[in-house]
Amino acid sequence: MGLKVLVTGGAGFIGSHVCDAYLAEGWEVTALDDLSSGQRENVPAGAEFVEMDIRSPELPELFRRCRFDVVNHHAAQIDVRVSVARPRDDASINVDGLLNVLESSRRSGVRRVVYVSSGGVVYGETDDLPIEETREKAPLSPYGVSKLSGEYYLHYFRAVQGMESVALRYANVYGPRQSPHGEAGVVAIFSLRAMNGEPLIVYGDGEQTRDYVYVGDVASANLLLSTLDLPPSGPPDAFAFNVGTGMETSVNDLVERVMEISGQVEVRREDARAGELARSALDSRKLMRLGWEPAYSLAEGLSETYRSIEAAGNRR
Ligand SMILES: NC(=O)c1ccc[n+]([C@@H]2O[C@H](COP(=O)([O-])OP(=O)(O)OC[C@H]3O[C@@H](n4cnc5c(N)ncnc54)[C@H](O)[C@@H]3O)[C@@H](O)[C@H]2O)c1
Repeated sequence: MGLKVLVTGGAGFIGSHVCDAYLAEGWEVTALDDLSSGQRENVPAGAEFVEMDIRSPELPELFRRCRFDVVNHHAAQIDVRVSVARPRDDASINVDGLLNVLESSRRSGVRRVVYVSSGGVVYGETDDLPIEETREKAPLSPYGVSKLSGEYYLHYFRAVQGMESVALRYANVYGPRQSPHGEAGVVAIFSLRAMNGEPLIVYGDGEQTRDYVYVGDVASANLLLSTLDLPPSGPPDAFAFNVGTGMETSVNDLVERVMEISGQVEVRREDARAGELARSALDSRKLMRLGWEPAYSLAEGLSETYRSIEAAGNRR
């Protein structure tokens, strides 16, 4: 019998790839999602599916019944702008929901919680790139605050209650199944617009940079950190791992690459958006020393993403 894992947010973009990765290694997988932005079709056939809100009073009973070995927590309110407009809604899911997951985990004897934080929002603005895990934290949105406070709750449950956990701080994740309809996911948005012959919209001078990491590589990081030996104790940063490539890619560079893949693209330039980070890249050498390596180049990952959007026939 393989190990049992619960993937919250398992019907979402990244969570569904994480389910795939566990299944491929013989784990018994349950995906939990309230389908607020996730899609039932994203959940792989080999996984059980539970439609539930992570804040539900029925969550502890599910944990008691299923006795998961590992809980992988991807469910979240993910939109920075929503968190700014409605910080209490953000905290309700990202803090209160997380606490329901952590308390249910502790009471039912879960061995390890793998928690998803964000390297794009917990560190704040800096020109000294790439950023390593121990750098000063300075979140500039309620979403950044809720993600970082999750890491501190993990610390409490680890240090005081003895429950193992790790936090993954993702860079900009892209790949198949990312929604091209929201605010996030510039690669998916550009790919869909290019496919439909619509102009790509670039805000500001297009020289702002991000660290783009392919979703399959993010899934393999989750798998690695689900069973790897951890230090017995330490501060929150000792249990946090950046997941990125360490490389900066500008929006202008991305536009060129999408042009090459799609064959035709027009660009429309608009005013810069307030509050956007100028540059970002994560130093992931700590994870690499444990054996993780991104397997996809940006060119390969962008082609995969474009092909998947084409195959889905996602035309307007
Ligand atoms: N996409 C990125 O670049 C990125 C970067 C950093 C961190 N993250 C984190 O990765 C995780 C997954 O993000 P994603 O990009 O796959 O987004 P997503 O929206 O596709 O996935 C989130 C999933 O959580 C589900 N969900 C939301 N609220 C829920 C609730 N109350 N109860 C149960 N399920 C709920 C949604 O239906 C969705 O399926 C999130 O924790 C997000 O903060 C993503």
